[in-house]
Amino acid sequence: MAQAASSSPALLDRLEAAIAEGRIKPDAGQRRVAEKLADLSRRLAHYDPRQGRGGLFSRLFAPRTRTTEAPRGLYIWGEPGRGKTMLMDLFFETVPVPPDDRRRVHFHAFMQDVHRRIHDIRAKQAAGIIWEDADPVAEVARILFEDAWLLCFDEFQVTDITDAMILARLFDHLFSLGTVMVATSNVPPDALYADGLNRGLFEPFILSLCARCEVVALTGETDYRLCGPSGDEVWVAPLGPDADAAMDRMWLSAIGALKAQPLPIDLGGRVLMVPRAAGSAARFSFADLCERPLGAADYLAIAERFHVLFIDHIPILAPEQRNETMRFITLVDALYDKRVRLVASAAGQPGELYPEGPLKGMFGRTVSRLEEMRRTGWPPLRDAAET
Ligand SMILES: Nc1ncnc2c1ncn2[C@@H]1O[C@H](COP(=O)(O)OP(=O)(O)O)[C@@H](O)[C@H]1O
Ligand SMILES: [Mg+2]
Repeated sequence: MAQAASSSPALLDRLEAAIAEGRIKPDAGQRRVAEKLADLSRRLAHYDPRQGRGGLFSRLFAPRTRTTEAPRGLYIWGEPGRGKTMLMDLFFETVPVPPDDRRRVHFHAFMQDVHRRIHDIRAKQAAGIIWEDADPVAEVARILFEDAWLLCFDEFQVTDITDAMILARLFDHLFSLGTVMVATSNVPPDALYADGLNRGLFEPFILSLCARCEVVALTGETDYRLCGPSGDEVWVAPLGPDADAAMDRMWLSAIGALKAQPLPIDLGGRVLMVPRAAGSAARFSFADLCERPLGAADYLAIAERFHVLFIDHIPILAPEQRNETMRFITLVDALYDKRVRLVASAAGQPGELYPEGPLKGMFGRTVSRLEEMRRTGWPPLRDAAET
């Protein structure tokens, strides 16, 4: 059941407070989008798609102030680094909708989840557990809706034909059930799945997307990713209170107006807990990442989800620390390949981290990648089409 909304949604208060505290810069384009998100927040305070779906009793006593008319969501597009994710996450943190009814997810991960669920249903149909004529896409939409009716997608993009071919049906079901969608993307709706195979079958999705979401461009000149920590300051050594203070300072500027909190990320049935996350930034200790049984798939999922990664307390690695060292090598490869900005505190310079041991050869690649990642101008900017 949606909570009562305050007069001026917390979103604008939070944005103004972060500007007043100097944590973010005032930006007219962001303000305009924030006001649209605040307006949607206000309308969602009075929206409950599940009203009237419960039993007779709950329908009888449902407060009449609620409506089942789904408000139009918002599709925010624009160049990377304009603050789309920050604004959507600020909305997600402050929207007066119970946590159980809202979900924030990277669109790629969402579609992986959808395909997994469709696969499961088909397997159950083949085993005769589920009625074979049921439409798996409609069934998945129903399950997703029951799970959360407010969906916030980060980095909405369609490049894969298997996604493109089911999106229209999936979202028609979701929208007709009462789902409200907010999304960030680097391209406007009509540029999704550009030049894709069988694009004609995809175009109905663009129509329903534009019908169910107001499309707004965030067009500021400033790429705020370039304003964050860069160059020598992103590698803080040696360890100690000064290093921790420097990391905390850069962390605050990286999270902008957002509040950092622990975040579970779904790794295909397994859940990895991110100790501190906010928007496209995350913070771990070396121990969190390399002294636990994590592997390449985990590091890739982290690198896909976050654009800035903070790692505290990277130690000097001993020859017998083979597992930790191998994990660290794999982690840096994932961050490098996904062009993630790395901010780290360490016991020494990259070249000093692994003085000797069986992985010396491989670690050479890690050192050169860490050196490249600490240079001004890392990461090499991805243009809109590439992400
Ligand atoms: N107005 C601002 N002032 C300072 N930093 C900002 C501002 N807006 C966004 N940022 C920071 O810039 C980085 C990129 O923002 P993000 O929301 O990820 O952009 P996008 O999703 O458009 O690529 C983040 O670290 C964010 O905290
Ligand atoms: Mg983003």
